[in-house]
Amino acid sequence: MLKRRVVDKYRLYEAAVQDANQQVGIAEQVYKENFHSEPQVLKEDFCGTSWISCEWVTRGEHRESFGLDIDVEALEVGEYLHRRHLAPEQRKRVKLLRQNVLQPTAKKADAVAACNFSYFIFQQRGELLDYFHAAYESLKSNGVFLLETAGGPGFVEAPYKETRSIKHSAGKKKGKKWFRYTWHQRSFDPQYRRGLYSIHFELANGKKWKDAFVYDWRIWTIPEVRDVLLEVGFDDVQVYWEEDDPDEEGYPIYSRREQGDSEFDTWIVYIVGVKKSPA
Ligand SMILES: C[S@@+](CC[C@H](N)C(=O)[O-])C[C@H]1O[C@@H](n2cnc3c(N)ncnc32)[C@H](O)[C@@H]1O
Repeated sequence: MLKRRVVDKYRLYEAAVQDANQQVGIAEQVYKENFHSEPQVLKEDFCGTSWISCEWVTRGEHRESFGLDIDVEALEVGEYLHRRHLAPEQRKRVKLLRQNVLQPTAKKADAVAACNFSYFIFQQRGELLDYFHAAYESLKSNGVFLLETAGGPGFVEAPYKETRSIKHSAGKKKGKKWFRYTWHQRSFDPQYRRGLYSIHFELANGKKWKDAFVYDWRIWTIPEVRDVLLEVGFDDVQVYWEEDDPDEEGYPIYSRREQGDSEFDTWIVYIVGVKKSPA
């Protein structure tokens, strides 16, 4: 039985740091730019509440998705917050699996996505290699593997805190203050590039929720990731950077660039491993 407090924790997380619409959009864009066709099957690694998997199947009647997470609680919250709200016919096309991402799946995907820097959980190069190998094996002969990645000097500055105020975006309370979100970079060890980071919430009624989510990450760099992707067999590695201006609806626009951007202290990119069928 799910507890209200648990559901609320993930609701706040999603409102503060996730945007499934944008994440699905970039997966579609990257696939189309590489293969000039529509992707149909998505594998969402580290799916948490599976918001991306559920959004995916609403974008076309042949779309299928499967989300992998080791945390049964996150998967149950995903069922409650997202999957059960889909039309029955859409729901059939989303599978949520309690499975380690280190194990390849029998079902093959057009796109594998690992969002919100989740792969930083792997601290050793060997683990990263195993993970990328599993992703490679889970892709069809033409496929893309997207790694949402944060970096820049600001992302390894510690101690550092950043706070934002989040308002309700729908319902009767739309526009009213909901909670304050704090991103806290508690410590960073440059020797191992190990960052201990956490998320705190403070509700409008003053209730504080310290360390609602805690991360012990290796902050991998783009060239390190690129080398491991090539080593497991990806044919190409591409990096998508955010453009200066968002689109008309305010969503960030990403485009593939050959050279990185050092203008900003902290950035988010999508590193993409491209698997191509033999010519
Ligand atoms: C940062 S959350 C990401 C949630 C969501 N996908 C997002 O983009 O915001 C990381 C998730 O990865 C899961 N996780 C950690 N290690 C994993 C593993 N080896 N295999 C599958 N899931 C894992 C955790 O349970 C957690 O739900």
